[in-house]
Amino acid sequence: MSELIPVLAADEIHLLVKSMAQRISVDYRGRELVMIGVLKGAFIFLADLIRQLTIPVKVDFLQACSYGAGTQSCGAVRLVKDIGVDIRQKDVLLVEDIVDTGLTVNRILDHLKSFLPASVGVCTLIDKRERRAAEVPIAYAGHVTEKGFLVGYGLDCDEAYRNLPGIYQLKIQVVEP
Ligand code: IMP
Ligand code: MG
Repeated sequence: MSELIPVLAADEIHLLVKSMAQRISVDYRGRELVMIGVLKGAFIFLADLIRQLTIPVKVDFLQACSYGAGTQSCGAVRLVKDIGVDIRQKDVLLVEDIVDTGLTVNRILDHLKSFLPASVGVCTLIDKRERRAAEVPIAYAGHVTEKGFLVGYGLDCDEAYRNLPGIYQLKIQVVEP
């Protein structure tokens, strides 16, 4: 049994995404912006974010594996899909659904820097702070929270719940035998 506790409704997410896009549009005006979404969790956020930008942008994705099935991290971070666009001398913004320990983003940042971009920034919909193990330079965060396992709007638990229009905290209830 599991329970979904509402955290952000669809219209609240829309406003957060719009204000992030406005800030990014100002900050990156006149530059060559490439946004790189981290699959799979960021696909809905990135799709909404780029449609609210008022500046040109190129888009690519990469995929990292840090979590196994369920809500427990498997520790090690592995890149399973690399970018295809040329980011050398470009201004790169890494787009994540959620930064938790920070290990995934840090591993990806190291990788992206090896392509010698002009700059690399981090944009995350959710900044979840309690378990942060590595310092992450987050330039844009939509919603800050201390803890809780969140699902919906791209975020999953074992691949489920990504399609929910809002974001919820997932409470897994242990049923006593
Ligand atoms: P980190 O390496 O611990 O920062 O984990 C980052 C990745 O773990 C995110 O990109 C998510 O895919 C996943 N993750 C962390 N917390 C949550 C959560 O609350 N819900 C869903 N996925 C999460
Ligand atoms: Mg992710």
